[in-house]
Parts: sequence; C-alpha cells; structure tokens
Amino acid sequence: MRLEPIIAHRGASQYAPENTIAAFKKAKSLGAEWVETDVMLTQDNVPILHHDETLERTTGMLANVADTPYETIKSLEAGGEPIPTLAAALTCLNTLGLKLNLELKPLPGKEKDTAEIAIKTLLGKRFPPDKLLISSSSLEALKTAMGIAPELHYGWIADNLSALELGLQSGLSFYSLHLNEQVLDEALVKKLCAEGYKVLAYTVNQATRAQRLFDWGVSSVFSDDPGLVSKA
Ligand code: G3P
Ligand code: MG
Repeated sequence: MRLEPIIAHRGASQYAPENTIAAFKKAKSLGAEWVETDVMLTQDNVPILHHDETLERTTGMLANVADTPYETIKSLEAGGEPIPTLAAALTCLNTLGLKLNLELKPLPGKEKDTAEIAIKTLLGKRFPPDKLLISSSSLEALKTAMGIAPELHYGWIADNLSALELGLQSGLSFYSLHLNEQVLDEALVKKLCAEGYKVLAYTVNQATRAQRLFDWGVSSVFSDDPGLVSKA
C-alpha cells in the first residue's frame, strides 16, 4: 500500500459536488491519486455515497437517508449531480485508476449491514486490495468488515483524543489512524508513528498547515483541494 500526501476529501469537493462521480473525475484531473468517500445504506439497503444522515444539505429534500428508498434517491440531484451507488463509484474509480479510502459511515443501527454490504460490493467488483483503505469511526462496522475481509487495510477515524483511545484499546488491528487535524501535535504524531501506525489528518485546506503536519510525520492529509501540496 502506497499512500500519497493528499487524499481528495469526498472527491475534489472544493470544485465539484462532494461524493459524486464529478468530484472523482475532477480529483483525477487535478492530479489526485487517492480519493476519500463516505458510504451509507438507503432505507432498502442500497450502498450509496453520502455524508449526512439527512438529504437536506446536499439535495434540498427534507428526509433521512434511512427512511428513503433508492428509487427516490436515484431521482435526486446533489448540486446538479446524481448521488452514486457504491457499485457505480467503484466502476468509475477503476476506470480512472484512482485509489480509494472508503469510509464506512453507517446510519445508527445499520453498522453491521453497512460493513457487510460495502465489503461484498468491493469484493464483487474485484476492487484492487492494494488500492483500497477502509476506514470508519464505528468499531462495530470495522470489526464486521475485518471478519469478512481480513486481508484488507483498515483505519480508525477519531475526532478527539478519547475516540482515538477507544480505537487503540479496541484490540482491532489498524494500519492507519485518521485523526482530526485539530487534535494533533508533534509529540502525538511522533508517538503514534513510533507505534507503527500511519497517521492521516482531516480536513486540511491550508498548504502551510499540511506542510507542518508532514514535517511531524503525518503520511497524508484529507483535503477538499487535491492541488494543495503544490501550493505549499
Ligand atoms: O475520513 C476522514 C474524514 O472524511 C472524516 O470526516 O465528516 O468528512 O467524513 P467526514
Ligand atoms: Mg468521510
């Protein structure tokens, strides 16, 4: 597995609607090698790319993803773009040759189903394992995914120090730690690197901040702007 300094956060989300095929194509055209995206299940268990629990911010529709069948979601537009299924996104990423950090973002109560369905979709599509990093802030989702596909690489997402500790104490084996950049300092990054983890930081849209994080030992930053490093 080879990480790169920039992972395009939700695709090139500064330039195209987040978590859409257009955002992946834009990321590729801006030189990204890796994209991050969020997967969750519709009411009828179709894995789609979406970040929020509700459809309001992205589509204007006042509804929860958990209550909305795919047939309805299929007809919506997020910033003028369709909301992709995971399967459609994988086909696109394969064609573009992009590497994928797939964040399992289960809706409450759907932790196991989200992991199972996402991993089975990835395996069914034969997405190259060396181009794939699975992450989540749900231990249950990660444990389920690891049970099905222990050969893949997994990352723990933590927004704060107690969440980081939860992952470290979980007994699960993580390749990487995906941490809110605001909780990082030099000592913490060096400690985690010394323990053998790759440290990734989200969300970083300032080139000078990215450079400081790299200097401390951070492997990659999630950025809405895939061209960020060239601006450092
Ligand atoms: O995986 C890193 C980052 O995407 C986690 O935060 O809220 O953008 O999914 P969020
Ligand atoms: Mg995410």
